[in-house]
Amino acid sequence: MPYHPSPEAQSWIERLTARTASPDSKPSPQHVAIIMDGNGRWAGERGLPRIEGHRAGIQSVRSIAQACRKLNIPYLTLYAFSTENWKRPRSEVAALMKLLRDFLRDEIPEMLENGIRLRGLGNLSQLPLYVQYQLEKTRRATQAGRDMQLSLALSYGSRDEITRACAAIARKVKDGKLRTSEITPEVVSDHLYTTGMPDPDLLIRTSGEFRVSNYLLWQIAYAEVWITERLWPDFRDVHFYQAISDYLSRDRRYGAVRT
Ligand code: IPE
Ligand code: IPE
Ligand code: MG
Repeated sequence: MPYHPSPEAQSWIERLTARTASPDSKPSPQHVAIIMDGNGRWAGERGLPRIEGHRAGIQSVRSIAQACRKLNIPYLTLYAFSTENWKRPRSEVAALMKLLRDFLRDEIPEMLENGIRLRGLGNLSQLPLYVQYQLEKTRRATQAGRDMQLSLALSYGSRDEITRACAAIARKVKDGKLRTSEITPEVVSDHLYTTGMPDPDLLIRTSGEFRVSNYLLWQIAYAEVWITERLWPDFRDVHFYQAISDYLSRDRRYGAVRT
């Protein structure tokens, strides 16, 4: 579906574009990471099964991806399923996996049209085979997309990711391919699922929880954080633009003193 911004969204796009184009402005974020939370509560408030909240959340994914493209943000990373989410009832996990497969299959034309390439981050071999198959199919179909990388964190947990990186680095040292003295933060970054990606500039969490839930712990070291009470299925382009506007007004000091 082509993106037809509402008048309110259009006015945000114009203001944000003008702000980031001015020479004294801060650059727009290169990477936005989002913890899409609150689907279950959204459904509960309506007396619907939780899965209907997840289904409604897909419309928000579309809206935010389109908003990112409008602002030329090259990396969008969405937390879709955590290593801890395997603890949920089997029926919810199964329904989520099916929704995920359908999304990966049905959005290919939209991704191709918008120059979006898809990438999965996480312990992907734990996903059901039919999801792995579609993920790989969609990744290949969209790999030439040059304008934006949409990453889905799937069966993703930061501690799992960092532990694997430690093991991979230890193997290289043991095999004589790397010296201990050569282990730098860049080497660690290169062994994470996110290898090759810039660190997130902005982390958004919906549904008002003040926690990071094992998401991109290494990568968000200096990310700006934006938390909104709004539940994920209600979070749309205009709310995203608000977050970007707030981000642009932040003073990122990285521990230094402003000169
Ligand atoms: C986020 O919504 C989606 C996933 C974790 C898959 P939740 O399902 O966590 O919704 P709440 O937090 O229970 O409302
Ligand atoms: C984080 O949300 C994981 C995803 C959004 C996929 P959760 O709902 O699983 O996190 P907690 O339980 O609130 O920490
Ligand atoms: Mg939740």
